[in-house]
Parts: sequence; C-alpha cells; structure tokens
Amino acid sequence: MLFSKPLQGLSLGLTLATLAAGVHGNARSTDNLQSREQDIVTWDDHSLFVHGERLMVFSAEFHPFRLPVPSLWPDILQKIKAAGYNCVSIYIDWHLLEAKRGDFRADGIFALEPFFEAAKKAGLYVLPRPGPYINAEVSGGGFPGWLTRVPGALRTGSEAFMNATDHYTSEIGKIIADAQITNGGPVILFQVENEYQHALDPFPMPEYGYWEGVVEQYRRSGIVVPSINNEAHMYGYITAHTPASVDIYGHDGYPLGFDCENPQQWPEDGLPTDWLEKNNRIAPDTPYTIPEFQGGGFQHWGQSGFEDCALLLNMEFERVLYKNNYAVGATIFNIYMTFGGTNWGNLGHAEGFTSYDYGAQITEERQVWREKYSEVKLQANFFHVSPAYLAADRFNSSLQYTNNGDITVTPATTDTTKFYITRHTQYDSVESVPYRLTVKTTDHGDIEVPQLGGDLILNRRDTKIHVSDYPVGDEHVIYSSAEVFTWKKYDDKTVLVVYGGPGEHHEMAVENRGNGFNVLQGEQDVKVKKADDGYTIISWNISDDVEDRKVVRVNDNFYIYMLNRNEAYNFWVPPTGAGTDYGTSDIILKAGYLLRTAQRDGKTLHLVGDVNATTPIEIIGGAPPKLEKLTFNGRPLHFQQTNLGVVTATVDFKEPKIKLPNLNKLKWKKIDSLPEISRKYDDSDWVDADLEESPNDSAPILTPVSLRAGDYGFHTGSVLFRGHFTANGKESVLNITTQGGQAFGSSVWLDSTFLGSWVGEVEVDIGTVVLELPKLKKGTKHVFTVVIDHMGLHGNYVIGEDTLKIPRGIIEYTLAGHEDDDITWKVQGNLGGEDYRDKTRGPLNEGGMYIERQGYHQPYPPSRKWKRGSPEKGLSKPGIAFYTTTFNLDIPRGYDVPLALEFDVAPRGSSVYRVQLFVNGYQFGKFVPHIGPQSRFPIPEGILNHHGENTLGITLWAMEEGGAKLDGGLRWDVSMVTETGFGEIEMAPAPEWEPREGAH
Ligand code: GAL
Repeated sequence: MLFSKPLQGLSLGLTLATLAAGVHGNARSTDNLQSREQDIVTWDDHSLFVHGERLMVFSAEFHPFRLPVPSLWPDILQKIKAAGYNCVSIYIDWHLLEAKRGDFRADGIFALEPFFEAAKKAGLYVLPRPGPYINAEVSGGGFPGWLTRVPGALRTGSEAFMNATDHYTSEIGKIIADAQITNGGPVILFQVENEYQHALDPFPMPEYGYWEGVVEQYRRSGIVVPSINNEAHMYGYITAHTPASVDIYGHDGYPLGFDCENPQQWPEDGLPTDWLEKNNRIAPDTPYTIPEFQGGGFQHWGQSGFEDCALLLNMEFERVLYKNNYAVGATIFNIYMTFGGTNWGNLGHAEGFTSYDYGAQITEERQVWREKYSEVKLQANFFHVSPAYLAADRFNSSLQYTNNGDITVTPATTDTTKFYITRHTQYDSVESVPYRLTVKTTDHGDIEVPQLGGDLILNRRDTKIHVSDYPVGDEHVIYSSAEVFTWKKYDDKTVLVVYGGPGEHHEMAVENRGNGFNVLQGEQDVKVKKADDGYTIISWNISDDVEDRKVVRVNDNFYIYMLNRNEAYNFWVPPTGAGTDYGTSDIILKAGYLLRTAQRDGKTLHLVGDVNATTPIEIIGGAPPKLEKLTFNGRPLHFQQTNLGVVTATVDFKEPKIKLPNLNKLKWKKIDSLPEISRKYDDSDWVDADLEESPNDSAPILTPVSLRAGDYGFHTGSVLFRGHFTANGKESVLNITTQGGQAFGSSVWLDSTFLGSWVGEVEVDIGTVVLELPKLKKGTKHVFTVVIDHMGLHGNYVIGEDTLKIPRGIIEYTLAGHEDDDITWKVQGNLGGEDYRDKTRGPLNEGGMYIERQGYHQPYPPSRKWKRGSPEKGLSKPGIAFYTTTFNLDIPRGYDVPLALEFDVAPRGSSVYRVQLFVNGYQFGKFVPHIGPQSRFPIPEGILNHHGENTLGITLWAMEEGGAKLDGGLRWDVSMVTETGFGEIEMAPAPEWEPREGAH
C-alpha cells in the first residue's frame, strides 16, 4: 500500500490540511499525465486528493436532462449537498445535443454551464460522464438516431464510427474542459465511455484502439482531470496497466437487481464478497472506485411501479450493501440514481415509461421523505468527520471479532483508528442477533464490548460501523458501538453525535482527560462508569421512543449526544451556502424535514430549509455564543439559548390553501389528429419512402423499399406511413408486421376504414396483424395509413449486436391478391425529422402525429374555430384526437406544491388506447392504460406555471372499434406540501404555437 506509513498521523487528530502538506497523491508519471500538467487532482491506492487533501468522493447521480427546468437544478443539488454528498455525477445525452449530425446544440435547457455553476455554488464537485455511449435507460443509450445509418459496428474503432463521434466529443469535451477544477470549475474526474465491456465475436473486447481513440478525443479538447471507467463486471479489461489505459479503474454494482415486484426478497447471493480480492488484483494502486452503485431500480412497461423499487432498495439495503462497499474501501463512490427524474419528451429507452423516479433517495417530485435519503445522510456525514477511513488498510471479513458466528466483521484499520463493519453472516437475515465485539485499542489492548453487561444486537437487515481509537478533536473515543453521525470541536466544547436503532444496546468508552461526567438527559437509561484503566464507559439502551435521547458530558466540555436513529434523521450538518465550499459548516442542528444552508453572520444565524409541519429547531453546536438573531427562510424566529450555547426555536407551518381547477370541467377544444385518413388528405410533400436498400446495415430489408423510419430521419414519438396503390379487385388480406419498441402499438386504416391495431403487449416490441380488406373495385385508388407508436430506440449495450439499429417502422407486409412492390410509400414523423423544429424543447419531444407536426401541442394553438370536446367524452371510433385547454394556477408563494396529473383509470385495465400529455408544449406523459403501470404523471413547477396560465394538451389514440375515452377524466394529485426556502422557480422556456412552414 503506497502511502500507508505517512498516513499514520491521521488518526491522532491531525487535520486534513496538515496531513496534505506531508502526503501528496501519487501523481503518476505516465506520459499522458505529465503532458496534462495538472497536479490539483491526484491519487494513490487509497483515495483521491484534491489540492493535496485526501477526499472521500461521495457522489450522487442526477441527470440534468431529466429535469428540464434549469432553475430547479439548484434545488436538487442543495438536497444532495444537504444529505452530505460532496459530488454529483451526470450523464450527458448525445442524442439530445447532436440530433442532426454536425449540428451540436447545448443551449437553453440543454446548456451545461449553468449546471456546473449551480453545482459549484451548492458545493458539489462534478463527475461528467458524456459517453459517447451512456446506456442510462435513454433512447438509443444516448446514441443519436442517425447513427443507425452509420455503417459497421458501433462503439468500435471503425473509421465510420470514430468520425461520427468526433464532433460531439470535441464540442462536449470543450464544455467539460472549461468546467474543470484547473479552470476554477467543479469538475474533478471524468468518465470515459460506459461499461465498455461486452462484445460479440469477432469484435475483440476490449478494443483498445477504440478506447484510446475516445480518450484522445477528449484529451484533445482539453480534459486533464483523471479519467475513470466503469466496468459492469470486474474483469479488469482496462485499468491503469493495460495497453490502452484509464487513470483510475472502477466498476459498477447492482447487487440486488431489479425485481421490484418482490420488494421483501433479497437475492440469495446478493452480497458481493469477492470485490476486495478482485480489486486488489485488478487495480492495486488506484482508489477503490464504484462509479455506479445501485440506488434504486429501473422498471419496464407493465412492471411494478417505482414505489416498489423504493421498498426493495430501501434504507436497510443502504445499510447492508453500501456499508459492504465501505468495507472493501470504496472511496470514490457514486449512487445511481440519487434523483431519477422524468423521461419527459420521449427521451427514455424503448423499455421504459415516463417516470424515471428509480425509487431513489430523492423522489421524482424532488421530495426527501423516503427514509433512504435520511439513512444516506447519516452515512455521508460520517465520512466528513472520519478521515482515517480514507487511509485505512482493508482486510477480508472475519469471525474473529465476535463471539457469534451469525455475525461477520470486516475490519478496516490504520495504525490507530479502526473500523469494524459488522453484518449478519447471512446477509439478508431479518433476525435479531445478539453479539459481543472484540475491539483492538492502542493503549488498552483488546476489549470485549459491551463491558458493562448486556449484548450488542443487530436487528433485521443492518450493518454497523463500530469504531475504536477514534479521534474526536482533542478527545479520544476508545471505542463506540453506536455509529458516529458527526462531531465538531468548537472553542468552548466538543460535540459528538452518535446513534443507534430502536431496541439496541450500546456502549462507548472515552479516554479521561478532564473532570468527571454528568448525564444531562436520559439519566434513567444510562450507565456511566470510570474504568480503572483511565477511561469512562457509557452504556445505554435505545427505546422505541424517537424523543428518547441521552446526553452525557465527560471531560469538562465533551458533549455526547446519543440518539435514536429516527431522531438522528432530523439532524443536519448544513453547508454554509457560501458557494465554492465543498465541505460543510460546523453547525449541528435538528431541523426536521430539510435544512439547506446555515450561514453565520456575526451574532446572527440564518437558516434556510423546508418544513412540512411545525418544526422544533435545536442548534446543538456552532451557533454564535451570544446569538442575537435567528432567521428561518428570512423570517426572524423567537429563540432561547442555554448557557451551553444550545439554541431552541420553533418554525411554524401553516398548511396553505391550494385551489386547483377541476380539469374535467374546463372548456376543452378538440381537433382530429388523423386527417390522413380523410379522402381529401394530400401527402404529396411527405417524405418518399423509396430507398431500395437500407442505409441501416443491421439486416437486409424484408419490404420492397425500406420502411424503417430511421432511414428517413424519424426517431421519436410516433411515425406514420402511407401506402398508395391501385386496386386490381383481388386484394383480400393485409398481413403487416410493425416494430416500435416495448409495449408499442400500431393501427392501420385503408382509406377511411379502420382495419385493425396491434394494441401492444408487455415486453413485446414487434407485432403482426392480419387484416381483412373490404372488397375493392378494380382500378380504384387506395391508401393505407399506418400509425406506429415509437417507444424510443434500443440501447447499444453489446458491441457487435448493434441493437441501436433495430429498426422502427414496417418490417414486413404482404397484401394478398396484390403485388407487394406495387405500393408506393410515404413516411412522416416529427416535422423536419433530424432537422427538428422545436429547438427549445429539443429533438425528441414531439412525434409524428398531425397535431404535433403542426405544433398544436404548444401553448395557444389556433383553437378558436375548433369544436368543443373533452377527452372524457373521447372518440366513438378508432382514430386520434387532440384536446386542449387552458387554466390558471395561483399556488401560494413560498410553498413547494408538487402537482401530478392522474388518470382515473385502473392501470392494466381493459381500456385500450394511448395518450400523450403535453404541458405548455412539453410532453410529460405517455399513458398506455392496458399496459401500465403509470397513470399518475408528476409535472414539475417550471413546466407548469404555478402563478399564471397553462396550456394542457392531450392526444388520444383510440385503437379499437368503439373508440375510447378517458373515463373519469383527469385529476390533480397533490403530494406532500412543504414551506420552502428555495425561492422562486423560473419557468422553462415554453415557446407558443406559431404557424409552421411545411406542416401538413
Ligand atoms: C448500468 C448502466 C447505466 C444504467 C444502469 C441501470 O449498467 O451503466 O447507464 O443503465 O445500469 O439503471
């Protein structure tokens, strides 16, 4: 281990800064690095260093493009920061930025500079992950649709593919380069490609040429910070020592999988136990790096909803699985996802629906009430005050530290401080298991804990990080079975906050340095004893009562708070909010739901946060000694301060009155969105579908001409084909196979006559229907109109499979009684295809339906002359209708009121139709009731104008005889309301309808 010796001083209370002066990272001397000339971010085998200081990179995954309201990015970033993270990892979606080859656009809601600025202001480093390939459950895995026409295998070093990536990598590379820490920005690391690991014969894996090519592209654009990779499985294909290399090797982990339907069931072999050994072999001299560790799960059409993923991947999962990663020494650790967001505007992959909530710590509606958010806050804060963790050597798990074989301990040790990561031997056990722990101490030898009687206990699925020889400022904790949340040393006192779960018994020992002790709170449940050996032992039980807390003072001015974990959840160590402060403040306080920042200003203390109920505030450390003024969201609070400096106050919460319009009673206007089936319809300026060979080389076409939408530049929303022919009188049956991605549907008309639909099935992305034609008269002209729901492009995970190129469109057809090649085809998708019209909302937001081509889904369509009609009444026969209405909202300011639109239909019920929901022109819902699961669609403020007028649009595609209607209509659903200190939210740009040239 490279630098374990000089680090010995760490646990003796040296600050990180003094440490850094003596220990510098291993600025590796490969040519690559030297030529990059930066020494701000370095590393050794244990951790990263920034400006010479060891850093735990505790990172949250958040995709800005999944929240198209840039003014809300700081909200998420503050919530990430408040949980104790110090880094945010972002994917960048090439498809959204270069939908037309050579035309790179990263402006408006797609601009990254504001994101980097917001991250820096929130005090978060950034790890950008721009691909080219990202996977990420986005359409094409981030690959633009035009790549389906690039010959040869994608994600290889082929000239065609490398050329295709050049423009994007150089443009995005420059943007990232500018935001690097070397230029004063927040970017400290950089990921190349994504899980570059699986290939089919004859493609070699890894293809070093490709890898080097991509690295070189980014280097050319000026990226100098260390590169990382993320293998899906630990093969060690590309490491610091392979012919084409990466600076820091990393691997991902999703150990509990995605079976959210069975949220209580953890897979038998879910706990990784071989990672330490593998990582030591593969990457012995770089920090243990996990660029993606499971933070929730994704869901497919027709599967369980995300609340089930939040249950499967809950706080217990975090306790057991995250701490298992700390046991192997992960010091660059990113949780995927911390905030999932929304697959608005068709940006999601072919398998997924609109929500990308992911069951993550922060809900799609930006809320932090899931217990897993609070749990991760406890963990993240521990690292802020436990620098020895970064320097500790790692060992295999062992039974030698406990008296009970059902308990397994993994030690991590420096020469002084030791961590004992303690779990059930059978990792998913839900039993309550008593045990005793043997800790090693420098001055007192081995000690079996607890000493004052009783047992430690591990309840349900849990893992503890016990410590010994743990420095707390000038104080020395000889051991603690209770876990450390935080501690701070102030001028006049030192405060330590530890916690344990309800029903647990704990013990701690503190070196004697001063006089006596007293129990300030919870006397009846605390035993304190002076040991002969010069230390004080404290032992206590934790009841189920959240309020039940113990406070003990030892050594004159060392205050130990012993909390019930559920009470610890209410505690915060907020950032100062001063910007560019990548650490935290030294304030420790209890403040309920969310505390964003705490700023001291002389004798004033300003708190900014959100409350969902009347909330007691208790500042146990860091308030100015003679506090004169305390504010919460700018409002002065009445407060009291004890002579120990503890401040108490109450923030009142008043439930706001929220009035929402009854959506079903609004004045709705209606227009037909399938004029194509009327006799008069003229498609002469549609795109001719006349390619006799497909530029998509995945497989030869099975139709006389290519009817692959992508060949003509259409990759999103929906696509329409029209096939013209002159009847010979013998036509009888059309057998047609369409493909659109999972759960897709398609409908076919002959002239104005509905022939039938493929209504869609869970997990099925191709469908054949056999449709009987009416008797046609010889010599008469006819046209088929085929509407296909485009669910997004496949990802391109395995090199050589080239699944991106799986086409969307008509794959095969025969018209019995008629020559197949005697049909002339036209195609239409979103207006302009890759040369899409709505540059503001981006290339994927609108599909090919008539009203979308016209732009009627945008605010203020020309609906004056349209008929009245509401989606609740719907259509009496198959077809597509568009409904639009406007309404005002006047939500009280100062509150965060998350609004969702909900269809009053049982998911997976019997109604067969497809709906798109447009809010001020942004598609924020694709609802397929017979597939499910989603029927409730959160709309963020900023898309929805909470203080003014809104335009709502609905496309309703009735797929069966009898038509379709939204039974029960559409209603609001309001989730938890908070009073927020976040401030005003600026609307995302929402250009209004204008006549569109070329729309027909
Ligand atoms: C990983 C991949 C991510 C995402 C994740 C599942 O393998 O790198 O992009 O797809 O799986 O959500």
